[in-house]
Amino acid sequence: MLVTSKELLEDAQKRGYAVGAFNVENMEFVMAVLAAAEETGSPVIMQTTPGTLKYAGLDYYLANVRAAAERTKLPVVMHLDHGNSFELAMQAYRTGYTSIMIDGSKLPFEENIALTKRVTDACHPGGIPVEAELGKVGGKEDDLENGDDNPYTDPDEAKEFVARCDPDSLAVGVGTSHGVYKGVPKVNVEVLSSIRKVVDIPLVLHGTSGVPDEQVKDCISRGICKVNYATDLRIAFTRGVKAHMEAHPDDFDPKKYCAPAMEEIKKYVIQKMEVVGSVGKA
Ligand code: 13P
Repeated sequence: MLVTSKELLEDAQKRGYAVGAFNVENMEFVMAVLAAAEETGSPVIMQTTPGTLKYAGLDYYLANVRAAAERTKLPVVMHLDHGNSFELAMQAYRTGYTSIMIDGSKLPFEENIALTKRVTDACHPGGIPVEAELGKVGGKEDDLENGDDNPYTDPDEAKEFVARCDPDSLAVGVGTSHGVYKGVPKVNVEVLSSIRKVVDIPLVLHGTSGVPDEQVKDCISRGICKVNYATDLRIAFTRGVKAHMEAHPDDFDPKKYCAPAMEEIKKYVIQKMEVVGSVGKA
């Protein structure tokens, strides 16, 4: 069933695990992520960035995820990832997304608060939770790019931010980046613990593809309740397509090369559901 992220993340926070949030690019991603959730009994969040939405649109992605949600008893969330304007957040809300991120992290502090508050004021009366972001996640998320300035979320600012604009969850800058890492990333877990001491809502880790599993588990023990994976699913899918086409260069039926590509995603997502501790939590 399609649910909001509110209860899922609150349960994760209470019981000390995290829910995996997986970026879906097409119907095959949705099917593969659902298959992984079914196999592990995991609650699951599927999400789309503004870049992905330019490819197909809110209605197409929601229809795919709704179809998946209707086939299962597991809780499934449709989340707008990195919503970059009030207008897009409202379009996602009206289309029927069950969780909305507004990312004002590139704005000055006061403007981020004002934008986030506008979105929480609009979404909360309809029972739709809002994820906000404070601090920087580096790298490039589709066509959204962040610079190399100080990435860390300031705990005191985080406390004030949450008090003033009332988000339901908060994405924090703790040293992760979107995309493929050049070396092995090192999450600043002390910053995370300092934020947790003064902020009591579920915290969100972005840019998790390529972050060693042990670091992800450490982050979860310090308050991360939602863990985002995008790049590695794209890599897994493409690896499956390439391997199939190398072995069968004359194949032309997408069903033939998408099946192994979905298997690659499913394998990856099952392993990450084990890492975040969501197995059997649905
Ligand atoms: P990765 O692409 O590094 O997995 O980041 C995903 C993400 O944070 C989506 O918002």
